[in-house]
Amino acid sequence: MRILVVGGGGREHAIAHSLSRSGGVHKIFVAPGNAGIREIASIVPVRADDIENLVRFARTEQIDLTVVGPEQPLVLGIADRFEQEGLAIMGPSAAAARLEGSKAFAKAFMQRHDIPTARHRTFGASDYDEAATYVKECGAPIVVKASGLAAGKGAVVCATVDEALETLAFMLRERAFGAAGEEVVVEEYMTGEEASVFALSDGKEYLLFAPAQDHKRIGEGDVGPNTGGMGAYAPVPIVTDDILRAVRNRVVAPTLHGMAAEGYPYRGVLYCGLMITEEGPEVVEYNCRFGDPEAQVVLPLLADDALDLFEATARGALRGSALSMRSGAAACVVLASGGYPGRYETGFAIEGLEQAAAHRDVLVFHGGTAPSLKEDDVPGRGSDTVTSGGRVLGVTGLGRDLRAALDRAYEAVGHISFEHMQFRRDIGKKGLRPS
Ligand code: AMP
Ligand code: GLY
Repeated sequence: MRILVVGGGGREHAIAHSLSRSGGVHKIFVAPGNAGIREIASIVPVRADDIENLVRFARTEQIDLTVVGPEQPLVLGIADRFEQEGLAIMGPSAAAARLEGSKAFAKAFMQRHDIPTARHRTFGASDYDEAATYVKECGAPIVVKASGLAAGKGAVVCATVDEALETLAFMLRERAFGAAGEEVVVEEYMTGEEASVFALSDGKEYLLFAPAQDHKRIGEGDVGPNTGGMGAYAPVPIVTDDILRAVRNRVVAPTLHGMAAEGYPYRGVLYCGLMITEEGPEVVEYNCRFGDPEAQVVLPLLADDALDLFEATARGALRGSALSMRSGAAACVVLASGGYPGRYETGFAIEGLEQAAAHRDVLVFHGGTAPSLKEDDVPGRGSDTVTSGGRVLGVTGLGRDLRAALDRAYEAVGHISFEHMQFRRDIGKKGLRPS
């Protein structure tokens, strides 16, 4: 089969890698891809949100299945357009992708279906005063979120009422998040540990991957601003069998059932971002796709054929399929540009990629990398890959347990360098704690 993967980060590298191991795959294209992905796939110079050109490409190249990595094209309706054209695609419709594209929709949906989540209220652009009154009633800590897509930066955990009021003013009055902040969700602060659970759903049936844990903050010990994710590991010991059962029965099943009942059957990857509270798992957020970097640990642990599963998901034929994970664990350490998640420079030569990838049980996934156009222009010693984004690489180690997986990952990280590189040295630490 001929496959098109849409996106160009570490998640898409991991998706393409998992597909490349399938005997049924003859050729993989990735749009727009990056410097690492071009080693296993053909790069297509089309942006992930350029839906019409992706449709054209899929038709011309007779693509049998398209797999969508990021949320923007899904929220913009890429799955609807492909389906109109009779092209198979794995990803939810725009209506179903509102679970991620509109936090206001997602919260109201959870309320309608009695799915556990933080108490909340939604406010519109002209409701600042009402929102401020609600914040003062609730007190701090409290969470203020832009309802629309904000590249992972739209949720602000506020330690004080004043900070929450400033954030409200920033979003509703100053329009700092543009259209994404025209509506805001104000919600109760939840305590507990976070975990991400991914379901593959064909609209009727679903299968779960092993739970993963992301590391959202930039700093070790979970301090500093939120990022797209600085590392991940799977499986997650705090998600015991009992908790996973609760996730199935109280979150995943009612979500998929509710979406179908409301007329938006969910076909694709449903990401349940959870807080494991004392009362059990509660939903922090839904996403309409795999997490990044979580995909970089979950997909390498997949024991079954990724193509079979993705195809069955896209075609509504998951009934009878099984999804099993390999034994052992995976851990991914993200290497980021200095300054990220704030301003950072790019174009720095990356050294040591080959040595790192030569390690057994190590996969080096590329996020923000580009081929260097002219090697002479790049400082360093003839590297042909340069940094081009905030999260540059994800280095995944696999092992018989989390300790071994982390050791593999950090050994490989030791080979890699680029100017102003930063990474967290405490990835997976929480998973090692005796329970
Ligand atoms: P979101 O964009 O909704 O995933 O939020 C980003 C991050 O903010 C989450 O991964 C949590 O770490 C934190 N967060 C969001 N909502 C809450 C909440 N209600 N209580 C505690 N932390 C939250
Ligand atoms: N790692 C968080 C996300 O993909 O949204």
